[in-house]
Amino acid sequence: MISTQEIKLVQSTIPQLEEGGSAVTDHFYRRMFSHNTELKDIFNMSNQHTGRQKVALFEAIIAYVKNLNNLSVLKPAVERIAHKHTSFNIEPEHYDIVGHHLIETLRELIPDLFSPQVEAAWLKAYGLLASLFIDRESELYKERAQLKGGWHGKRAFTVIRKVKESELVTSFIFEPNDCQPVMTFEPGQYISIELTPDTSENIEIRQYSLSTAPNGASYRISVKREQGQFDGIVSNYIHDNLEVGDSVDLRPPTGDFFFQDKQSPVVLISAGVGVTPMQAMLETLAAKKYQQPLTYIHACENSAQHSFNQRTAELCEINHWQHHTWYNGKGVPNSEHIHQGLIDFNAIELPLTDGDFYLCGPVGFMQFANNTLQELGVNPERIHYEVFGPHATLS
Ligand SMILES: Cc1cc2nc3c(=O)[nH]c(=O)nc-3n(C[C@H](O)[C@H](O)[C@H](O)COP(=O)(O)OP(=O)(O)OC[C@H]3O[C@@H](n4cnc5c(N)ncnc54)[C@H](O)[C@@H]3O)c2cc1C
Ligand code: HEM
Repeated sequence: MISTQEIKLVQSTIPQLEEGGSAVTDHFYRRMFSHNTELKDIFNMSNQHTGRQKVALFEAIIAYVKNLNNLSVLKPAVERIAHKHTSFNIEPEHYDIVGHHLIETLRELIPDLFSPQVEAAWLKAYGLLASLFIDRESELYKERAQLKGGWHGKRAFTVIRKVKESELVTSFIFEPNDCQPVMTFEPGQYISIELTPDTSENIEIRQYSLSTAPNGASYRISVKREQGQFDGIVSNYIHDNLEVGDSVDLRPPTGDFFFQDKQSPVVLISAGVGVTPMQAMLETLAAKKYQQPLTYIHACENSAQHSFNQRTAELCEINHWQHHTWYNGKGVPNSEHIHQGLIDFNAIELPLTDGDFYLCGPVGFMQFANNTLQELGVNPERIHYEVFGPHATLS
């Protein structure tokens, strides 16, 4: 238990920490990675350059400290982060390292405020937060290890097929080297892959949504080649080097974004490679002959980048489900299902009052979709989304 006095002491440091903003998180990460270089094999160092992960962790700690009186409001965030942590195999001893660097960062950056009483209160608060995560993560590890085909930590898999889905996206199908079953998962969840590309000094871990229905024997992921000013390390490595017969280490499926069967209408909305969890949901619902209306909405640049085009049309047509795609680029084929420009939610009939809406794509796209749907009257509790990177809020 933490006392009211201790809560006050911890909260008294918030204004200065918020004022310090990115300088505090920069200091914390620089300190941690220089003293504990082994953590570079866990964290995505590319995300450190983009700054998105740093903001996420800092915001989480501040949010926690602000809510020390009412921790239940943090439950959904703890659930999401715990799932993410398990995909990196974070263990209790890692919390001591992070806690140590957090406390030392505070000592170094706010020395005037950081009295022995404040330090003791922070230690207690951090200990409580860490135990929330440690407890939930150990439950998740245990649950998965006990499932048929489940496991804990890494398991070796072989690529049994590689299928080009569009100009930028290729699917990889994996079977375990031990020839045993693989655990089931909820459509929308992701696995993590661990490898050491020759272009990287570190072990790299990345998450990929499972892109088809569970089958107990294999997993499929579909990876976009990330190119630009800085080419993505793992996605390019996978596209160029991972071939049929190669072995890779995978961690079990996880994630708090997945289809929830409420026997209500469903709307699956994706942009670009955000299509992957939607394919898992579409395949699963088609396989179980879901009896409710389904609307499949997708946005991409053009037909060359339209992944799973034929399969989506086939499944939707067999089941009498609506499907619509918007191409942002030029050269629109003549079809009642393909439209030009940005998604227009007013152009189609949607189950605005009783439907559940699943979103995945770039954050800006999901913010647009989320705002528009809410303006049209959709209850925010019926909008579910996944960010393919450090978490971000949509409103
Ligand atoms: C839950 C979840 C599910 C996901 N599912 C999928 C999926 O189904 N399919 C899929 O393709 N991806 C998916 N992703 C994304 C995937 O995990 C990777 O993030 C993605 O493949 C990019 O990894 P990378 O190693 O190629 O790029 P990274 O090397 O990690 O780079 C990431 C970004 O940082 C930028 N960057 C790198 N270095 C710098 C620098 N020095 N300065 C500035 N910017 C820099 C890069 O340009 C790139 O845009 C998912 C992510 C999550 C969290
Ligand atoms: C109480 C302490 C902690 C808090 C509040 C915290 C918070 C967070 C948050 C908010 C995210 C982003 C989640 C998302 O994107 O959905 C995250 C991701 C992550 N956390 Fe933690 N975390 C804590 C402890 C740890 C520890 C002990 C480790 C391991 C040393 C760790 C490793 C990671 C990694 C590797 C990621 C993904 C980062 C990336 O993509 O680069 N975290 N954490």
